[in-house]
Amino acid sequence: MGTTIVGLGFYVPHHVLTNFDLEKMVDTSDQWITTRTGIKERRIARDEDLVDMAQKASVKALQMAGVEPNQLDAILVATITPPLGFPAAACLLQQRIEAQRAYALDISAACSGFLYGLELADALITSGKAKKVLLVGAEKLSQIVDWQDRSTCVLFGDGAGAVVLSQGEGGVLSSTLRSDGNFWEILYAPKCGSIKMKGRELFRLAVRSLEEASLEALEKAGLKPQDIDLFVPHQANVRIIEAVAEKLSIPKEKIYINIDRYGNTSAASIPIALSEAYAEGRLRRGDTVLLAAMGGGLTWGAMVIRF
Ligand code: ACO
Repeated sequence: MGTTIVGLGFYVPHHVLTNFDLEKMVDTSDQWITTRTGIKERRIARDEDLVDMAQKASVKALQMAGVEPNQLDAILVATITPPLGFPAAACLLQQRIEAQRAYALDISAACSGFLYGLELADALITSGKAKKVLLVGAEKLSQIVDWQDRSTCVLFGDGAGAVVLSQGEGGVLSSTLRSDGNFWEILYAPKCGSIKMKGRELFRLAVRSLEEASLEALEKAGLKPQDIDLFVPHQANVRIIEAVAEKLSIPKEKIYINIDRYGNTSAASIPIALSEAYAEGRLRRGDTVLLAAMGGGLTWGAMVIRF
């Protein structure tokens, strides 16, 4: 028995911040942002906090799964932007959805948070320690962005994606997760400050690490890149995604990209992409899906799942 995704849901705030809006805020242009990153617009939470977004995504995922909140054994929230120092955002979410039987905790692994969470959820379920797990990737990055720093403020957005996981066929076929704290200064945010990033260095590391992790995860699953039905990478930069896909010889039509509409939503990006891909019919039951992400830590990894 493996771990199957039985429910998917996502939520993004209504307020759209376009590249043209950013032109009025910092010395940048739609043309620079589009060609360097692939981003056209992103969503910004104004009146909503992280838990509001996580709740809306979770309710949709629970509905699709047909799972009642009190059936959940664990709630994992991957985030680097929790609303409080403590308790965890997961506990606040637990209160909102009234999942009284569950225990709740946050995972801090930046853009790789959803993959780390999936690994832990899979371990809980396949070991028999949990039957149903809610895993959410949620970020309100707009609150830790320096809106005067053009090299970072154009990149990020807010949103949440959720999955409900249960025992079932298929599920997580393989994973390769890594971190290397030697590189922490390449991408970080001080406790009460904004995101600092060495973009060019990160770009190079991302392409190499995502390729290596993907190949390793595929090999562990006994698969080749051509066996993949859909590649759902973390949405940090369309040039990173295309470079990795090219190295893996994954054709364009098998890559899911929504960075143009949401920017980089860190831990939320993969579950948002999975939810959208499913809603659009791009992700179907039985599909073999490659997930890959890299973020602050540095953390990175790849997983192969059967949906
Ligand atoms: N508008 C106009 N010009 C800009 C902007 C902007 N918004 N930002 C930077 N520039 C300028 C720079 O000042 C620089 O000018 P100079 O040559 O006169 O010094 C020039 O554009 C080129 O800057 P680079 O940083 O070299 O541009 P690059 O092509 O590397 O693109 C980017 C920058 C988009 C940040 C890219 O490096 C990248 O995507 N890196 C990876 C980011 C990433 O993967 N993050 C993931 C993790 S996020 C997380 O974990 C939360």
